[in-house]
Amino acid sequence: MSTVDRAAARARVDTAYARLTQAEREATRLVHDPATYTREVPYAALAALREARGVVPVAEPALPGWPEGTGYWLVLRHTDVDRVLKDPATFSSSLGGTQMRDPRTEADLAYVRRMMLNMDPPEHSRLRRLLAQSFTPKAIGSLETQVRGHVDGILDRMLAGGAGVSRGSAGAGGSAGSGGSRGAGGWGQGTCDFAKDVSADLPLLTLADVMGVPAPDRWLMFDWANRVIGWQDPDYRISAAFDPSGATDLGRAAYALRPSPGADGLMPDPRSREGMPDLYAYAHALGTLRREQPGDDVMSILMAQRDDSGGSVSVQEFENLFWLFAVAGNETTRNGMPGGLVGLLGSAAAQEELRARPDGIPNAVEEMLRWWTPVMTFRRTATCDVELSGVSLTRGDKVVVSFAAANRDPEVFAEPDVFDIGRENARRHLAFGAGPHVCLGAFLARSMMTTMFTQLLGRTAWLEAAGEPVWLQSNFQRGVKRLPITWRA
Ligand code: HEM
Repeated sequence: MSTVDRAAARARVDTAYARLTQAEREATRLVHDPATYTREVPYAALAALREARGVVPVAEPALPGWPEGTGYWLVLRHTDVDRVLKDPATFSSSLGGTQMRDPRTEADLAYVRRMMLNMDPPEHSRLRRLLAQSFTPKAIGSLETQVRGHVDGILDRMLAGGAGVSRGSAGAGGSAGSGGSRGAGGWGQGTCDFAKDVSADLPLLTLADVMGVPAPDRWLMFDWANRVIGWQDPDYRISAAFDPSGATDLGRAAYALRPSPGADGLMPDPRSREGMPDLYAYAHALGTLRREQPGDDVMSILMAQRDDSGGSVSVQEFENLFWLFAVAGNETTRNGMPGGLVGLLGSAAAQEELRARPDGIPNAVEEMLRWWTPVMTFRRTATCDVELSGVSLTRGDKVVVSFAAANRDPEVFAEPDVFDIGRENARRHLAFGAGPHVCLGAFLARSMMTTMFTQLLGRTAWLEAAGEPVWLQSNFQRGVKRLPITWRA
């Protein structure tokens, strides 16, 4: 089956939705609405639905910035989410793509299917294998050293008074609200916005290393990831943090192609090639350059690889991989770090414990990923009739897995709402997914988070909340736009 009967899929959701109780309908409405997440993740609603049904039909009415859709089946239990992700023959990434919102047109669907994320085995396996082989032990070793250097530099700036890197409204502006003082005895105190001043730059610097992007161009990736992942959010969808003045020719040429918001204030759909002309121009030029003049970055290694039939990765494939990495590795890690810090700021005991015993940090990072869950959902499409938690699904049904609900499933995690850095099975979280598409950057995300928290706690005496955080408007990413903190060192 290459296409989906969307009308039939919608009719099945509508029928089942009509049978929900009023309270259940209200819970699904809350869970679906991106606006909910600017206040909270509706964990109570997720828990009630997970316990009562496990798999629940969710309607997709038109919402501001979100067109009406077919509706979908939300999978909430850990065991079901794991099963869906590990069975690509039944739950396809390719048939309807992996985003909850359907691509607008068949052409847009065809476009996203060219990306590894939206392929099924065996097509997926070729690129996955080539990429996995490109993260050689040597490349991983140097990335880990580079991460350490970046963390040191970012924290130097924070401790020097939070000057940070100043960018535009949605950028990593370090000036507003940031400041510090240092006493004669070497003590210091300051405030900063951990999300913007500290967390935002680390994935950018690291992805620039992975992809051979010259460092001055890296804030282009910040804007691209915001436009793609933050399209539900009024600030992020028009993100304009990149400052071309210090950029390379490549960066300036891409910047010149940046689309502008239309009369409705919206950018073109970022999930179409036409919506991201600046990203594709940059990726094309970089891919061509790295093929001719390889560096020692992972993408240069990839371009030199040969697949089983002797072919190599084309520049077009490189462009799509560039899109995927610039987006998938960026916002996710940028939100994981402040999310983890929210856990620590809420638990003085945990902060004290990790300061006293830093060898607990790797497990604490797993708990942060479980408890925060930066990526809350992903989507599959059923390829055949199948039963899940007693619910019959039919070919063509849109199936959305909730990592947020699975990671708080009491069947797997005792007292799941408690942030417990000593939790023995924290690593069973599904924050990086599972199965053939399990996050390819998980080791790098873990390395960034572990290094950041080791150095942050090692170089400060205490951290406290210093104002109201601001959360991203998105039912996909659990995003932190601002997290004001006070540090003492
Ligand atoms: C805390 C940070 C991160 C989280 C929570 C996260 C989460 C995820 C999840 C849930 C998936 C599975 C998607 C699916 O099943 O359809 C995924 C895939 C992926 N991630 Fe990550 N990610 C993170 C960081 C990164 C980083 C740093 C990179 C790159 C260096 C990266 C690159 C990728 C790629 C390329 C895929 C697609 C793999 C495939 O299709 O085979 N991610 N990620």
